[in-house]
Amino acid sequence: MTLLQIMAADNAAEVRVRTTDDAVITAELARRGIAFDRWPVVADAASVASDELLAHYADEVAALNASGRYRHIDIARIHPDDADPAWPQTAAGARAKFLDEHRHAEDEVRYFAAGRGCFYLRLEDEVLAVVCEGGDLLSVPAGTRHWFDMGTRPDFIAIRFFEEADGWVGDFTGDPIGAGFPTLDELLTAP
Ligand SMILES: [Fe+2]
Repeated sequence: MTLLQIMAADNAAEVRVRTTDDAVITAELARRGIAFDRWPVVADAASVASDELLAHYADEVAALNASGRYRHIDIARIHPDDADPAWPQTAAGARAKFLDEHRHAEDEVRYFAAGRGCFYLRLEDEVLAVVCEGGDLLSVPAGTRHWFDMGTRPDFIAIRFFEEADGWVGDFTGDPIGAGFPTLDELLTAP
């Protein structure tokens, strides 16, 4: 279930909003200039090949990219593989990549076809944790300080939209703020 938790930037324990209500989530994000949308999910997307998923979402992708702004559109996916002894290390490495606060020169646009991941957006005096699940489209505005937690058991399929081929490259701020906020796993288990 999609979850939005808004906390004070200087005190993660000060939870100002915690909701799973789609309408509230959309409204809270919209009034901060953050685009959020929902597309119909494909059943059992994890078993569908990436090119087939892109073909399935061709109409939604074309509408989102009507201006031709996104010149590179691909799919990132990671699924647990308990039969692979290297999986825990692979998972930890993938998780660590964007767990520290950073920004991008372009909007970070992601559609979650399945699974989940949490974007943390640092805006003025607040941090918005947005747990995206299958069906969710989120756009982190260019220049916004943020980080991303895929959890200790990463499992998601995301369509990524880039203007430039290196649009995913992060400019890391060096601020350890993320360590003071609940992880994806913690957000999901919180009452
Ligand atoms: Fe990012």
